[in-house]
Amino acid sequence: MSSCTQPYPAQNLSAFVTTIIQWQKQHGRHHLPWQQTRDAYRIWLSEIMLQQTQVSTVIDYYQRFLERFPTLQDLAQADQAQVMPYWAGLGYYARARNLHKCAQALQADHGGSFPEDPEVIATLPGIGRSTAGAIAAFAYGVRTPIMDGNVKRVFTRYFGIAGYPGNAKIEKTLWALAHNALDAAPATLDIAAYTQGLMDLGSGPCARRNPSCEQCPLTQSCHARVHGLQNQLPTPKPRAEVPVRSCHMLILLSNDTVLLEQRPDSGIWGGLWSLPEFDSPTALASYCVQRGVAAAPQRMGGLQHVFTHFKLDITPWQVNTTSTTANEPEPQRQWFDLQHWPALALPAPVKKILAGLAQPSLISAPVAPDVG
Ligand code: ADE
Repeated sequence: MSSCTQPYPAQNLSAFVTTIIQWQKQHGRHHLPWQQTRDAYRIWLSEIMLQQTQVSTVIDYYQRFLERFPTLQDLAQADQAQVMPYWAGLGYYARARNLHKCAQALQADHGGSFPEDPEVIATLPGIGRSTAGAIAAFAYGVRTPIMDGNVKRVFTRYFGIAGYPGNAKIEKTLWALAHNALDAAPATLDIAAYTQGLMDLGSGPCARRNPSCEQCPLTQSCHARVHGLQNQLPTPKPRAEVPVRSCHMLILLSNDTVLLEQRPDSGIWGGLWSLPEFDSPTALASYCVQRGVAAAPQRMGGLQHVFTHFKLDITPWQVNTTSTTANEPEPQRQWFDLQHWPALALPAPVKKILAGLAQPSLISAPVAPDVG
């Protein structure tokens, strides 16, 4: 993907900020309950409730909470158990526990009110750097940036910043750019309108899916819009590497029958019939010796089966026997006519291995054993 690596001229950064402010004043949201106040307590409460929760859900909770705890002191003096019912249903309950702890910390260490410096606000329980910025900007008019998920999306698209924004290096770039934009903006900047404008753009025209670029004031100069990269930016989180496990499966054949074992009820393929499975070729070989199988098992071409949380590398080993001990039944293991296995509930890769016995092209020929 192409990405804009040019430094951004101060003039462009300033235009970015002023365009957002003008747009917010005309098209942004102005009647949300927490916009009708400059009380840091009320603004803080809204910002915490709005983390991971939609505006439409938050409004009722916000109003009920403030009826019961109208001031920071009311909240600090309450027991946590009295607070939790006012959060019940909002989810992410650590937010409510931290809210209460934070109110008590403000009472104990900050004279019962919010400090103005965003760096100090960010030291309080449950308040991250972006929330601290929002509180300082909305309550005290401090010229300081925010960088929550929505704002990251606006910045990565507008400035063409590739790379997962949760990555520390990308995040650092975004914060630096957000500071540069404020530094470049006019002295008379309306920080509350800019901050709200970023939030309104991120939850409106610059939505994650199907952004409405025609309604966005930044559309002419947005890197993602100009290059058609709206669906590629922000870069998604890289998928975690899934672990790879390996196992060895025995295809023990005797007079057109195959030995199968029933798997325990819990774990993968719980209760299904499958080929006897071993952790190592040695364990597989000693099982064959114990059963009186004279010939050495031949290693066949392997296959990989993908589960949601891991991959399983399966190495099948095949051997024919005529030994009578080998034919004795065992608990959980039984001989099945090769004609009959298709009627059994078998895991897909085991079906594939057994189908390969009838049609050798489905499963590759014996391979030379690993040496060493
Ligand atoms: N999401 C986070 N903060 C918000 C705010 N102040 N207004 C609307 N949505 C928000």
